[in-house]
Amino acid sequence: MRIDIITVLPELLSSPFEASILKRAIEKGLVEIHFHNLRDYSIGNYKQIDDYQFGGGAGMVMMIEPIDKCISKLKNEREYDEIIYMTPDGKTLNQGVSNEISLKKNIIILCGHYKGVDQRVRDLFITREISIGDYVLSGGELAAAVLCDSIIRLLPGVLNDETSALTDTFQDNLLAPPVYTRPSNYKGIEVPKILLSGDFPKIEKWREEKALERTTERRPDLLK
Ligand code: ADE
Repeated sequence: MRIDIITVLPELLSSPFEASILKRAIEKGLVEIHFHNLRDYSIGNYKQIDDYQFGGGAGMVMMIEPIDKCISKLKNEREYDEIIYMTPDGKTLNQGVSNEISLKKNIIILCGHYKGVDQRVRDLFITREISIGDYVLSGGELAAAVLCDSIIRLLPGVLNDETSALTDTFQDNLLAPPVYTRPSNYKGIEVPKILLSGDFPKIEKWREEKALERTTERRPDLLK
């Protein structure tokens, strides 16, 4: 998979890709990440990328021309399956959306800033608009990092234990059951006996029950 990220703040985005699972996925060649600094496509001597909004009102709007130049250059080089815009008024990200995007070959992610991008960018280029939740961030970069992490960990070969993404919370619309590790007794607090029994069918049944219990309690909306 190849992910091209268009941003005005590439330095804000680099560190999530330089550690742990994402770093390993890149090193193994399972994903390629390319950052494109929108300033490199800016207009005029002042390297302009944003301007006042027509009709008045506070806040700057990202101009169409630098974004068009960047996206058009990329599209001339290869075909893209999706051009995603990170924005708080997009569709809320969930596991299903991440699963779907993880099957794509080439995607572009555009990070918004200020008041967002000129509507014509959205109308002309964007295939999908994603929000990571009902709150406003200073820009789309952290949201793009969240999206990338959720996609990349699903790519075959990225996780060591191939089955572990399948048992994640949300994969079957259930929250994950509680987990425990050593010691089996910590200051008198015992691990559930069943987990030490070695009876794997019973353990599996216990985990299903706990997952259902936790989901009913915390996220009944997932069971509908
Ligand atoms: N940009 C600013 N806030 C955002 C959010 N909640 N999700 C995605 N992109 C954003």
